[in-house]
Amino acid sequence: MIPESGASQQVFIAPSELSSKAHIPNLETYKELYAKSVENPEEFWKGLAKEFYWEKQPTGQFLDYNFDVTKGKIYIEWMKGGITNICYNVLDRNVKEKKLGDKIAFYWEGNKPGTSLKVTYNELLQNVCKCANVLREQGVKKGDRVSIYMPMIVELVVAMLACARIGAVHSVVFAGFSADSLCDRIIDSHCSLLITADGFCRGDKQINLKQLADEALNKCKEKNFPVTKCIVVKHLWKTEPSSNDVCAEGPSPLKRICQNLQTPWNAAIDMWWHELMEDASDQCEPEWCDAEDDLFILYTSGSTGKPKGVVHSIGGYMIFTATTFKYVFDYHPDDVYWCTADIGWITGHSYITYGPLANAATSVLFEGLPIYPDESRMWQIIDKYKVSKFYTAPTAIRLLMKYGDEPVKRHSRKSLKILGTVGEPINPEAWLWYYRVVGEERCPIVDTFWQTETGGHVMTPLPGATPLKPGSATLPFFGVVPSILNESGEELEGEAEGYLVFKQPWPSIMRSVYGNHPRFEKTYFRKFPGYYVTGDGCKRDKDGYYWITGRVDDMLNVSGHLLSTAEVESALVEHRAVAEAAVVSHPHAVKGECLYCFVTLKEGRKFSKTLEEELRKQVREKISPIATPDFIQYAPALPKTRSGKIMRRVLRKIARNEKDLGDTSTLADPAVVDQLFTSRCQMFNV
Ligand code: WT7
Repeated sequence: MIPESGASQQVFIAPSELSSKAHIPNLETYKELYAKSVENPEEFWKGLAKEFYWEKQPTGQFLDYNFDVTKGKIYIEWMKGGITNICYNVLDRNVKEKKLGDKIAFYWEGNKPGTSLKVTYNELLQNVCKCANVLREQGVKKGDRVSIYMPMIVELVVAMLACARIGAVHSVVFAGFSADSLCDRIIDSHCSLLITADGFCRGDKQINLKQLADEALNKCKEKNFPVTKCIVVKHLWKTEPSSNDVCAEGPSPLKRICQNLQTPWNAAIDMWWHELMEDASDQCEPEWCDAEDDLFILYTSGSTGKPKGVVHSIGGYMIFTATTFKYVFDYHPDDVYWCTADIGWITGHSYITYGPLANAATSVLFEGLPIYPDESRMWQIIDKYKVSKFYTAPTAIRLLMKYGDEPVKRHSRKSLKILGTVGEPINPEAWLWYYRVVGEERCPIVDTFWQTETGGHVMTPLPGATPLKPGSATLPFFGVVPSILNESGEELEGEAEGYLVFKQPWPSIMRSVYGNHPRFEKTYFRKFPGYYVTGDGCKRDKDGYYWITGRVDDMLNVSGHLLSTAEVESALVEHRAVAEAAVVSHPHAVKGECLYCFVTLKEGRKFSKTLEEELRKQVREKISPIATPDFIQYAPALPKTRSGKIMRRVLRKIARNEKDLGDTSTLADPAVVDQLFTSRCQMFNV
């Protein structure tokens, strides 16, 4: 039933020309299919799995799982015994079976306007085969882990698919992460080889990635985990391109003529990508894998501080990312699709690499920044490539919104049909601006809720079918069964608020935490036996719409990136002057949330601007610039319970200068609160 528009809840319906041509044209069709998908998931997904190439069809039990820790080990298996290869399915199937070899897979748009490339499915396949052969020659075998630390360039997609082709497990580490973070991830997943690039530019800033990679590998060696092979893509351009060294729109990413910049080199380990690729054959038989073999590891923050290696397997991830891409973006063959996320995050894995390619889509792959060289870059790119489906993050929308409507209106955007968001709850104000100004009220917005762990969209509108409410991720995708639980684990019906959980597995749910299955069980299945626990709070309204209210654990979401307070705290206390640190989330107009840190110092240490800067630098280096604290407040002491637990609830209020602290009866030393308000005043000079 179409929800009524209440006074406080505006509802937006897709234009009828869009709905009538959509794969799912109305809510009734969605509901029918949804019912089938959850009543008989095996039949539903079996039908979709048939569209893929199987070396051996999945004939055994299509789905087998246990979601209940009290009944034994947690496991999820889709299509086990089915034999396939995801690289074959996203490339060879398009080229050979569908004859789409000449179709553009990617329009690569570089950081600097004027640098761009086109890559067809044929070219992508050839390069992936070459790279797969290179990896095999370097001794990489099925099941081996390969670390990838690269900027947003076509070679990143090539490297991922080359791993997938030979059954190796890729672990992409976002190029914004520090050398320390890369080192930890390489060691945790026992990677035998690293693929990186000399460097890249973000706006006018050059990042010497190879130098960071070297630091990481040195640290690995110090920790007795030597990595002996490193493949380096030559990507850095002369900082100021003159007319004849601008990257031409060449036939292949490998034929660019690059400037030879000084790259730190260790001949015992390092190999140039282009040299290895030159000699490699472009024919490469895929490694046929079980649907349940591992496809990749992707690290995500964990509330204990140590990142978790989220493991996804091949078959389920393949069918779910392909299906969500098709329905959520209502994909049609003439679309040009653009997801602005970095491939270093799950959004890029699922909705730049695998989902779009599985549908033979044409995508924009953008290396740059939303406001470089000016604040209309995004809209200029949309016009340049005639983008019809555009997917970005609320933090980017809020940033662009700050510049007003003019930079948007400078470009026509008439190609746009559907807009999407992901990463955090979108505030209705930003939603309405995106809808009215960017989409000119003709483009439905799909607010997609999901997680690294879910592999693909789990709560989302379907653009031709679902009436939209600004700020709501609306309804579950096919095969997903949400529920809202109270603190005692009881399912709440109707209008309710509580913990968001899922009752049964969809194909791309994560399979384990790499090397630590007990942590997987504990994090997601222990609190409420029988359910997958998202860690998010959620409200359901009278129309059955879901509204994600944010994390309920010790995690915060900065610009759509999850960080754990514990991880930042441990980076702070590694500083010689710091005795203890407590980090809380604080509202931020663009980033959504930011970090507010309280630090207590060791005896004899004094708080100063210099120390503050040292601490910021420490966090950037230990974790990433994303984690840079916005506020660091000196704390004479921290508010604790008698059992010694830091009361973050109290600290959040102090950070916001809210004097009503609620129940403080469990505070061991109530005097601490006044001291903290005083030191807050000193920090803000009031
Ligand atoms: C967390 C997952 C999924 C790719 C990007 C983040 C928050 C994500 C939404 C949304 C409200 C959202 C949740 C979730 N989140 N999308 N549409 N509405 N919240 O992946 O780093 O694994 O973070 O991001 O809190 O648990 P991730």
